Amino acid sequence: MLGWLKRKRLVLGDALITDMHSHLLPGLDDGVKTLEEAEAIVRVFKQLGYRKLITTPHVMQDHYRNTPEDILTRLNELRRHLTERNIEMDVAAAAEYYLDEFFIRSLESGNALLTFGDNYLLFETNFISEPLTLNEFIFAATTRGYRPVLAHPERYLYLQDNVGRIEDLANRGVLFQVNLGSLAGFYSKAVQVMAGRLVDMGLVHFLGSDCHNLQHAEGIAKASKSRYFEKALNLGLINHDL
Ligand SMILES: [Fe+2]
Repeated sequence: MLGWLKRKRLVLGDALITDMHSHLLPGLDDGVKTLEEAEAIVRVFKQLGYRKLITTPHVMQDHYRNTPEDILTRLNELRRHLTERNIEMDVAAAAEYYLDEFFIRSLESGNALLTFGDNYLLFETNFISEPLTLNEFIFAATTRGYRPVLAHPERYLYLQDNVGRIEDLANRGVLFQVNLGSLAGFYSKAVQVMAGRLVDMGLVHFLGSDCHNLQHAEGIAKASKSRYFEKALNLGLINHDL
């Protein structure tokens, strides 16, 4: 097991340096349940060679009304937990905002939003049909100086086989974050194919784990076996600059 992790270390976390999409703060969403589970996941990421984890709890009107204060309070609890156990890992937090009315209103009324790096704003949408407010959101975000990052574009049914819309979103200023699990075939064949297609199009700006639990953390190393992983690295991912 350790030998396997060591071999992977050279090609996964060492290559990416920073993970910018995960759910590692207990009690905020459908991610980890306890600080101990978060600790176990951080240990796996450390063995994989990662040096920084930007964790991104869901913010969603119907399920997870997390405020920046809620998130930063839990972040400090995790940091303290890791420090007390001498686990060295740079852990930061932003959020994964679900595109709903609540989010658009927050954005348009100038409420503080949690971003990472150079004002990157991670968001996700409905998985089945395109939200009617998608263009409105992109305009509102970009004109306020945010750089919207669409989480796992390969997983949305409305974007699969819709290369024209993907290019249109890119032209409007959207950046794309593909899940490592998608490259590894963790979701479905169709999602895996779409992830590869985005790499071929040169439209992958970040790779993220979207890690929700320990099993998921242990599975992401498989992504480095995908031929698209190395190809994605050659795109000059922003992960290295966070
Ligand atoms: Fe997520």
